[in-house]
Amino acid sequence: MNAIVRPLTAQDLPGLLAVQRACYGDGYIESAAVYARRLACPAQCSVVLERAGQLCAYLAAYDALAGKVTPLHGDFEAANPPDTLYLHDLAVLPALAGQGLARALLAPLWRGAVARGLTRSALVAVQGSQGYWERHGYAVHTLRDAVQRQRLAAYGEGAVYMLRTLG
Ligand SMILES: CC(C)(COP(=O)(O)OP(=O)(O)OC[C@H]1O[C@@H](n2cnc3c(N)ncnc32)[C@H](O)[C@@H]1OP(=O)(O)O)[C@@H](O)C(=O)NCCC(=O)NCCS
Repeated sequence: MNAIVRPLTAQDLPGLLAVQRACYGDGYIESAAVYARRLACPAQCSVVLERAGQLCAYLAAYDALAGKVTPLHGDFEAANPPDTLYLHDLAVLPALAGQGLARALLAPLWRGAVARGLTRSALVAVQGSQGYWERHGYAVHTLRDAVQRQRLAAYGEGAVYMLRTLG
């Protein structure tokens, strides 16, 4: 595949936005300004996949707390101490789907999270991706807290909060 997986940098933001635009409907498009703020969060551990110098896929993630949802268009809030790897956004250029690029981004993030002592990973599944995440060991988790439920609702009908254990 000859792909490089490396940390996201500010220089990657135009490429990230292009992949985002190719992968998501209008309701989910987040701005460069939001991503720039997230990059400044010390808890973020986002990665990109580059092939022949082109950004083909990205996984935006950070160390967070189980049961907390990142608001759509919202900031990554560092937790002290974190217990959960939160996967905010995984996107692969549609032309390159089914080649294992998503897996290539996920595997090092899960490994890194275990090394940092995190015990779980969480995400909000959208666009019919629940089945994809179930295949990776995530299960739907019911949120009890009203604020978190409200944040989840902003992702639209069919969005579900999911958790898995790590390690
Ligand atoms: C979902 C996504 C990240 C998968 O990326 P990918 O690089 O194609 O994934 P991989 O190659 O590692 O894995 C592909 C496998 O997942 C399966 N898969 C892909 N999308 C799926 C879905 N929505 N539901 C169930 N399985 C799915 C494929 O059928 C394939 O199965 P196989 O391994 O048995 O052939 C990519 O399709 C994407 O960017 N989608 C748009 C953005 C999105 O919805 N992201 C998730 C939001 S939470």
